[in-house]
Amino acid sequence: MRLFTFAAALRRDSLNRKLVRLAATAAERAGVTVDLADFREFDMPLYDGDLEASAGSPAGAQKLRERFLAADAFLIASPEYNFSIPGTLKNALDWVSRTNPIAWRGKPGLLLSASPSLVGGNRGLWCVRVPLEATGAHVYPDMFSLAAADKAFDAAGALVDPKMAARLDKTVAAFVATARALAKAAAAG
Ligand SMILES: Cc1cc2nc3c(=O)[nH]c(=O)nc-3n(C[C@H](O)[C@H](O)[C@H](O)COP(=O)(O)O)c2cc1C
Repeated sequence: MRLFTFAAALRRDSLNRKLVRLAATAAERAGVTVDLADFREFDMPLYDGDLEASAGSPAGAQKLRERFLAADAFLIASPEYNFSIPGTLKNALDWVSRTNPIAWRGKPGLLLSASPSLVGGNRGLWCVRVPLEATGAHVYPDMFSLAAADKAFDAAGALVDPKMAARLDKTVAAFVATARALAKAAAAG
């Protein structure tokens, strides 16, 4: 099974980028082939219907779509901005959703977040679910939110708290098992 994953953050020292690296490693341990992308690869303008009509989908959106299409499942780590989805991620999902078939339709996805706050960005993930579910993704019911994330990683990028590290592994492994079951059911028709 192939998993496409990225942190929806552009910042070099992004906490979500650190978290997604750990989740990618956990997915590999669960036997998955991981495609870990950098969100900067998918640079694109703000959605504009006139631009779409004159020039079609921008290159960054097409690239993002292809990466989703090549995968059986996806995993997104997203910051929480003002209790919600970052505009950059929503814009990217909006552009990609304009090309049929929608690249994540029917695919299982796991959502993660990291924030310096005590809620760990979890409120934002409820908003990330909406456009994905509205366009046919099977967003996994459990989510993983890392609170106090500015103090959660050691210098090597590992989680300081072994209980939290075990919980991340368990969440990713359970998601992978569900994604595999869905893929098997879909293959059986
Ligand atoms: C515009 C903006 C809004 C934010 N709103 C929230 C918020 O609602 N809740 C929260 O926990 N953190 C909020 N933050 C802080 C982010 O969680 C913090 O900057 C985090 O490090 C961003 O993720 P990153 O490290 O992956 O870039 C906000 C940050 C920005 C720039």
